[in-house]
Amino acid sequence: MACKVNKETEQQLFFHNYARLPLAITHGKGVYLYSADGTPYLDMISGIGVNALGYGDSRIVGAISQQAAKVIHASNLFMLEPQFRLAEKLLEISGLSKVFFANSGTEAVEAAIKLSRKWASLSGQNDKKEILSLSNCFHGRTYGAMSLTAKAQYLDGFEPLLPATGNVNFNDIDDLAAKVGDKTAAVFVEFIQGEGGIHVVSSDFIEALKTLQEKHGFLIVADEIQAGCGRTGKFFSYMHFDVNPDLICLAKPLGGGLPLSAVIGNEKVRDVFTAGNHGTTFGGNPVACAAGLALVNAIYEDNLMEQAAETGEWIKHALEKLAAKHSQIQEIRQYGLMIGITVNREASYYVQEALKRKVLVNATSRNVVRLLPPFTTSREEAQQCIDCLDEVFSEET
Ligand SMILES: Cc1ncc(COP(=O)(O)O)c(C=O)c1O
Repeated sequence: MACKVNKETEQQLFFHNYARLPLAITHGKGVYLYSADGTPYLDMISGIGVNALGYGDSRIVGAISQQAAKVIHASNLFMLEPQFRLAEKLLEISGLSKVFFANSGTEAVEAAIKLSRKWASLSGQNDKKEILSLSNCFHGRTYGAMSLTAKAQYLDGFEPLLPATGNVNFNDIDDLAAKVGDKTAAVFVEFIQGEGGIHVVSSDFIEALKTLQEKHGFLIVADEIQAGCGRTGKFFSYMHFDVNPDLICLAKPLGGGLPLSAVIGNEKVRDVFTAGNHGTTFGGNPVACAAGLALVNAIYEDNLMEQAAETGEWIKHALEKLAAKHSQIQEIRQYGLMIGITVNREASYYVQEALKRKVLVNATSRNVVRLLPPFTTSREEAQQCIDCLDEVFSEET
């Protein structure tokens, strides 16, 4: 008998850690996901910021099938060309020195934490262990990354956390100055916070961070897991600001939909890891790297960063018109195709209402409706999303 893919079976089969929407997806094409009966759903979430090219892009599908036919997995005991080619590309784009591949965002953050501490210990300062992050951030769910993620909803019941971690109030220069010091090994920054509801780090804060870095000699780590790979209009979101991070964490779109993440580091950290210091069986899987290379090439060939920036601006203006009409909308925050709409009730209400109208949006930070559309979203598709939200706000009960 066929397995019933519905809420009831889900409750029986799985731990209850996901709040899945009651929608069974069978396939996707372009910017649409489809249910079994062929109903299209306009996808403005793109697998939580993963599917930059939407679904079924022939270059990604081709790269995956060609590489899968050659070798799917061999491990990091060997040298694999797709890894080398993607590493070369990432170093060319970032101008940095070394790459480490893992499988997920949280693993990239974990590797960056380890690298930062080992870098600090090599400097001979045995008490230089502290890893700081910013309030309202999100860096992942494993213990190190979770210890940097400063929200009770992610932490409650899971303590004790990683020692020597701490939090600086977002954009608060005084708090930064009070908290960083010679014991600080690294400060992790999402220059544009995603899960936190699309908040941008201020230029003044970045200037203060750089000044304090000169004084105390810590690493600046850019978490580009959600904002990176072109979503904000530049390949890395830090490129919008006057800052050169020492380490970059990258994931989500990087594997073209397959699990892949990377840590990219500059000259300061180039020799920190030695053989056996760190690793993962699947990290840099050749199929994921081949897909990643196809993705990065497509982003440049199709000018998708420009398109993301323009489409994002267009959506922002359209949302501002909605905000003038609907008092439920409190604020619009947008950077490229990272878009947050602050509303005056639980954002999950709007997610459900949009779903009824066959449009997929997402809720974050309780009262923020978030859009992370594919970079390939056309004006017509963006308009469909705006029309849907207009209707939802108009018919709200
Ligand atoms: C900025 C940021 N860092 C880290 C992570 C964790 O990535 P993953 O879910 O792949 O472990 C996320 C995921 O949403 C993220 O947005």
